Amino acid sequence: MDFTIRPMKESDIPLLAAWMVETPLWQRYGMTTAQATAGFENGLARGDWLMTADADAAACGFAWAMPKGTFGRSPYLRLIGVRADRAGGGIGAALLREIERRSVETANELFLLVSDFNEPAQRFYRQHGYVQIGAIAGYVVPEITELIFRKRLR
Ligand SMILES: CC(C)(COP(=O)(O)OP(=O)(O)OC[C@H]1O[C@@H](n2cnc3c(N)ncnc32)[C@H](O)[C@@H]1OP(=O)(O)O)[C@@H](O)C(=O)NCCC(=O)NCCS
Repeated sequence: MDFTIRPMKESDIPLLAAWMVETPLWQRYGMTTAQATAGFENGLARGDWLMTADADAAACGFAWAMPKGTFGRSPYLRLIGVRADRAGGGIGAALLREIERRSVETANELFLLVSDFNEPAQRFYRQHGYVQIGAIAGYVVPEITELIFRKRLR
């Protein structure tokens, strides 16, 4: 599958929010279109790193990282996602590489949280060199434990 990765634009947000709320992961967190939209808008306004992937459909993937989002010190990969019908084609890996490329300019490591039940995503991150270093029970929602993953970039 051919695809390109580029910075996110305001006009991508409705397209991204529309499939995010259909994604089982974010349904478990009760994500609404309004929340998804506000998150991206605030991120763009703050200067977070927001990337979009286009394939045969526009805006079928994204990555969102906060440059000092971990302990005010290291980049934090807040969310990454690929539309379910375009998953498995390398888009997620390319988005992750772009966030890592930006991170390594100023930081030694990158952190993220992944849900305890989200084994496909845990496998994805491990394949890319991430290691679990901890867990936070009931952090985002009461019934889910967030696993803390870290990658040393250099
Ligand atoms: C996890 C995710 C970002 C990976 O993106 P992707 O474009 O599917 O990933 P790639 O094609 O680069 O890599 C494929 C690998 O991702 C993993 N993967 C995770 N979910 C997958 C899915 N639904 N379909 C296929 N592969 C998936 C597998 O480990 C796969 O490796 P394998 O080929 O050895 O089985 C994407 O599947 C996704 O958005 N999932 C739902 C949301 C999510 O879990 N986000 C991460 C937590 S915030």
